[in-house]
Amino acid sequence: MWVEANKNLADIPRYKPGLPIEEAKRKLKLKRVVKLASNENPFSPSPLVVREIRKYAANINRYPESNCFYLRRAICRKMRIKESHIIFGNGSDEIITLALRAFVREGDEVIIGEPTFLIYKIQSLACGARLVIVPHKEYTYDLNSIKKKITPRTKIIFIANPENPLGTYINSQRVRNFLESVPSSVLVFFDEAYFEFAPSDFPRTLEFIKRGRKNIIFTRTFSKAYALAGLRIGYGIASREIIENLQKVREPFNVNSLAQKAALAAMQDGKWLRKIIDYIKNEKKFLYHSLDKIGLFYIRSATNFIIISTLPRKNVASLLLKKGVIVRDMSNWGMRGFIRVSVGKRRENLAFLKALKEIWPVKKRDYAKRRKK
Ligand SMILES: Cc1ncc(COP(=O)(O)O)c(C=O)c1O
Repeated sequence: MWVEANKNLADIPRYKPGLPIEEAKRKLKLKRVVKLASNENPFSPSPLVVREIRKYAANINRYPESNCFYLRRAICRKMRIKESHIIFGNGSDEIITLALRAFVREGDEVIIGEPTFLIYKIQSLACGARLVIVPHKEYTYDLNSIKKKITPRTKIIFIANPENPLGTYINSQRVRNFLESVPSSVLVFFDEAYFEFAPSDFPRTLEFIKRGRKNIIFTRTFSKAYALAGLRIGYGIASREIIENLQKVREPFNVNSLAQKAALAAMQDGKWLRKIIDYIKNEKKFLYHSLDKIGLFYIRSATNFIIISTLPRKNVASLLLKKGVIVRDMSNWGMRGFIRVSVGKRRENLAFLKALKEIWPVKKRDYAKRRKK
């Protein structure tokens, strides 16, 4: 007799993270490996962060502050919001899970786009939610179709803005129009993990909340632009009522003390952040230009990654891996023949392009086939 698992888990695919560099080296017996698979920041965090972590390392015998006091105060001052409007998570990932635990009961409906960040699907199914999947249109959210799918059982709509894996974003006007037609009983969850890389007509989600919208939450993370992915810290901002409910299902010490110190220090080094964002934007342009020269189709991205079609070839990620370049194969997202590549340092991007060129030239007849499609 087995210990019977929660029946909701039966159909849940396990999340497969990007292969770590050390594991790839071990498995493939490679000396040099470049990882461009997990949308990480290729740079070490600001020197202020490293100094702060060293300073506090000896204090980790103590539990962390449960309410992230100093960080909370700093973010609230910067955003001009009350402290009751923010919650911290072990990565912004955790806020997704908290929202589902707090608001979704067995059989409730959760709307997601497709393809999208896989955690929405995995965690919604684990809660026993009924997933309503609305495929993207022209590589972005089909907001009209999403509106039509809202029913009295709809609890949450997850919108990754900018979207992962596509890299596209919904601008301010589209978000405003969309929100006008969403009933107040539905929580709209804007996941803004790549916010710092987005262009200027990106929505100011905070303003909706300040103007009193109670059915919106948006999340941000220190994992991407701030280069703290390994420490796991992110946050969500919403009405006091939403946050209060999320606080009830949060573990008291979900954000470790080094992460709290590091995030605060990272926020204080605006010059470093600007430099990183500019670098990534520049390298993204370089990659676009190089991909144009090779003749590959890609989607223009508002993030630190690019999704690229390698059709008719469907195994490019595994061929690149053999050459020591880890990128994300998009089969798990139902996009066979696509890869997602994070923007790295110039030498990493060059390593990727070199490996790609070595395997790319497809035979002329393959090109012909592609054009016909
Ligand atoms: C859309 C999106 N949301 C959230 C996350 C998770 O970020 P965090 O490291 O803050 O948990 C990611 C990470 O890749 C992401 O792509």
